[in-house]
Amino acid sequence: TAGAPEPDRTRTTGALADRFRALWDEIAPVGRDPRTGGYLRYALTEPERRLREWFRAQADRRGMPVTDDGNGNLFARWGDPDATGAVLTGSHFDSVPHGGAYDGPLGIVSALLAVDELRAAGVTPARPVVVGAFVEEEGARFGVPCLGSRLLTGAMPVERAAGLRDADGVSFAEALGDRPVGARPDLLAGFAAFVELHVEQGRALVDGAAPVAVASAIWPHGRWRLDFDGEGNHAGTTRMADRRDPMLTYAFTVLAANKEARLRGAHATVGRVRVEPNATNAVPSRVTGWLDARAAEPDTLTGLVAAVHAKAVERARRDGTGVTLTEESVTPLVGFDADLGRRLADLLDAPTLPTAAGHDAGVLAGHLPTAMLFVRNPTGVSHSPAEAATDADCAAGVTALARVLEELTCR
Ligand code: GLV
Ligand code: MN
Ligand code: MN
Ligand code: MN
Repeated sequence: TAGAPEPDRTRTTGALADRFRALWDEIAPVGRDPRTGGYLRYALTEPERRLREWFRAQADRRGMPVTDDGNGNLFARWGDPDATGAVLTGSHFDSVPHGGAYDGPLGIVSALLAVDELRAAGVTPARPVVVGAFVEEEGARFGVPCLGSRLLTGAMPVERAAGLRDADGVSFAEALGDRPVGARPDLLAGFAAFVELHVEQGRALVDGAAPVAVASAIWPHGRWRLDFDGEGNHAGTTRMADRRDPMLTYAFTVLAANKEARLRGAHATVGRVRVEPNATNAVPSRVTGWLDARAAEPDTLTGLVAAVHAKAVERARRDGTGVTLTEESVTPLVGFDADLGRRLADLLDAPTLPTAAGHDAGVLAGHLPTAMLFVRNPTGVSHSPAEAATDADCAAGVTALARVLEELTCR
């Protein structure tokens, strides 16, 4: 319109990459284990609390008031406090044990920088932009991934969430300093869409020209606990024929999971195990393994878990052990809003791709038009210190997110 200032679009990608690096370096040391180079940023522990404080300070510096939703999720708002139709963007600060730098924080840092880019360009959105930081996305502390978004949407009952305990017996409610409040339809109603920017976690963009992609779907996936019970006994004196060793049943089951997943083109992982009493010279009394299983199709996932369970039960009979399978969390197939995805892929001239990684966006997709942007990861490795992204690609991610936010809040 006449008289409106011309947006300044002269900032170069190079300078943005420098601004990205400067902001990124503020959080890079927080929770980093110098021994592995990985991060220990468990939800609501000291390093993650420092990141939350940093987030509040960044929001404050930008004049964005922060709301705590009572479940541990933080929302910083740029725009009219009473307006509806806000576009939510953001991700999470928490990490898996010895995780990478980018999984989570990249989406929050990029969102703050995207707000800066829009402001510097003189864009005044017709609807607010809200930057969110979700609590316990990885489930690394309390066992259930996307706990914050599940509480916000009501997908997780408050009672169950409050009582989830970490390895030291501290409950989620205790860690929060209060009980979670659960579903917040009032907050959700104020959001018109959610866009989560995230580092790509596989090899999908490694060999291509595109630094940024738009997500199409998230594979259905879940976590199952397998408890193998046997008889603890002396490693030296117990004859081999007399043993009821749950480690054998466990080991067989891990191999079976791998085989069954390969047969189906699915993914199965046992990345966490607990052995009791965990002594070199004792036959274990109990082994607990956590099965992470994912597949492109829901039926494939169901079939995979059923097959692994059946094989474990059969083997337990031979070993004289017992096995029980407990579902800890399941995330159904997520198809992101197809119209929105196409619109954003066209806008950014970006490829679309599915992922087998879980995200808060997968939970929110059931409630809001939701999209994800993935930033190229040159190592193709994630949930590991080797996870990577170049500053130039991160800058491309910020630019893409700013364009998306402008598209969704101005048009
Ligand atoms: C979370 O990152 C998951 O996919 O496990
Ligand atoms: Mn992750
Ligand atoms: Mn993540
Ligand atoms: Mn995740």
